[in-house]
Amino acid sequence: MRYLSGPASEVLVDRGLPDPLLPVREGRRKVLVLSQPGTDFLAPAIVDRLDDVEPVVVPVPDRDEAKTLGVLDIVYHRCAEAGIGRHDTILGVGGGATTDLAGFVAATWLRGVESVLLPTTLLGAVDAAIGGKTGINLGGKNMVGAFWPPSRVIVDLDVLDSLPRDIKVEGTAEVYKTGLVGDPAIVDAYRDHGIDAPLELVVPAAIAVKTSVVIEDLRESGRRAILNFGHTIGHAVEFASGLAHGHAVSIGMVAAVTVSERRLGFNHKDEVISDLDALGLPVNAPEVDRDHLMSLVERDKKIDAAGIRMVLLSEIGEPVIDHVTTADIAAGLAAIGIS
Ligand SMILES: NC(=O)c1ccc[n+]([C@@H]2O[C@H](COP(=O)([O-])OP(=O)(O)OC[C@H]3O[C@@H](n4cnc5c(N)ncnc54)[C@H](O)[C@@H]3O)[C@@H](O)[C@H]2O)c1
Repeated sequence: MRYLSGPASEVLVDRGLPDPLLPVREGRRKVLVLSQPGTDFLAPAIVDRLDDVEPVVVPVPDRDEAKTLGVLDIVYHRCAEAGIGRHDTILGVGGGATTDLAGFVAATWLRGVESVLLPTTLLGAVDAAIGGKTGINLGGKNMVGAFWPPSRVIVDLDVLDSLPRDIKVEGTAEVYKTGLVGDPAIVDAYRDHGIDAPLELVVPAAIAVKTSVVIEDLRESGRRAILNFGHTIGHAVEFASGLAHGHAVSIGMVAAVTVSERRLGFNHKDEVISDLDALGLPVNAPEVDRDHLMSLVERDKKIDAAGIRMVLLSEIGEPVIDHVTTADIAAGLAAIGIS
């Protein structure tokens, strides 16, 4: 299956890796491969398909430890040592943290080189690698970044099928979220099959929602913001507690459906919370300092002169972007056990 997520960006979904791995590109001599711990099993197949270029493999730290200025500095130096030029490619292999880093390196090295992303987590495949947002953390999630669409995203369903259960559960939060904002069939699939909803069904459906939104609004000036459902409070919980992104988004969705009920009369709050719980996702926040959390919510990029903007739901599949009050946020926080 092939989806376009912009004029020069394609997403390939299949079982196994495509051959050739990279899109045809004249003058490419080298590929800097940023690889996350735990993805070594893919190395032979990757190197096998890069026989006409020189691969330079750079292991990066796990999870968001990779999204730091320190790691960026190391990777830029590796680019310089390897002589990565304008026609060369940065290939990110791993979960969303590695693909975010790889995309940002590609966006900024020599003012922009090609990136290709090979997401190895469910979350990466349906969300992080799709749509061109790249970045690192600096005093908050993704505070430094760029919109830099990859030329190709490679989603191998065999890799996703082999994920350890806990990582699969984490990623399911973003797939389910995509269903809530864009395709109720995804929500139904999880209600029917639980965590084992067929990947052939939910992964392409979630990618189709994301690519259709992103193709209209790459820079998040409008509709793309609906994909941030659960993220305003979720990102703050993630940064304050160090919780995994998918877990934090699940908690953020509990807060967001609570605010949706309060402001828009959304009447599926309890079903959503029970779905998340049944999928093995957390619905309550760990202990975090409330004032710190509020300051992170206010520092979030979704704030403008009129206040905090949040993505809410009027119905499943019907997102609404609304300004919310401090009392709304307080109600959302109370629903996740922070008062
Ligand atoms: N750019 C975007 O639009 C966007 C969207 C959503 C999330 N994100 C970012 O994505 C990151 C979270 O991504 P993630 O949840 O994919 O996690 P991750 O990159 O933090 O990886 C999670 C874990 O999965 C392991 N892993 C990866 N692939 C594996 C495999 N095939 N088998 C076994 N283990 C494997 C990793 O080693 C790691 O321990 C966050 O930094 C978040 O900010 C970005």
